[in-house]
Amino acid sequence: MKFNELSKIRQSCRNYDPDREVEQEKIDAILETACIAPSACNGQPYHITVCQGETAKKVAVACQSFGMNKFLDNAKILIVISEGKMVTISKIGSKASQIDYRSIDIGILSAYITSEAADQGLGSCIIGWLNDKKIREVIDLDKPVRLVIALGYANPNDVLRNKKRKDLNDLVRFRG
Ligand SMILES: Cc1cc2nc3c(=O)[nH]c(=O)nc-3n(C[C@H](O)[C@H](O)[C@H](O)COP(=O)(O)O)c2cc1C
Repeated sequence: MKFNELSKIRQSCRNYDPDREVEQEKIDAILETACIAPSACNGQPYHITVCQGETAKKVAVACQSFGMNKFLDNAKILIVISEGKMVTISKIGSKASQIDYRSIDIGILSAYITSEAADQGLGSCIIGWLNDKKIREVIDLDKPVRLVIALGYANPNDVLRNKKRKDLNDLVRFRG
């Protein structure tokens, strides 16, 4: 599938099939693509924890305060993305430029993971509404959690939505 087409079928899935497990080879393919994602100074300053079974259920609860993210109850896999060590050159660059490269790297990683998930026929949803402390307790982690990504098969009744986005003219300008 062309990337442009893939981008249109990738959507935040909030309706997972609770009875369908994700095959290990699909998880492996997603992780392989994740590992190829570019990052500042090639530092890959993050860590990925793949949560399944009871652990995924506990992580889901940690993302569900104030009635948010109820749909995570049915997601088979929750990928926790936490901060990792920054390479020295990237740390210096971040300080000098005042640009938080690590957060940018984690965003790019998430785009790779969700795009590969779509290519594997899986639904995914990036989750930013999370309780860092609770998740760290559940998975025994000593670094901040930045994002969680839900993965699973979408329910057969889930529909492909039209993308609602800003007009391109409001996002882009050309100078020449
Ligand atoms: C950093 C980030 C955090 C997000 N957090 C949540 C979340 O906690 N719960 C949720 O349902 N969707 C969450 N989303 C999904 C966005 O709402 C979604 O990507 C956006 O509305 C565009 O829709 P689409 O992904 O279906 O194209 C998040 C997306 C990003 C990039």
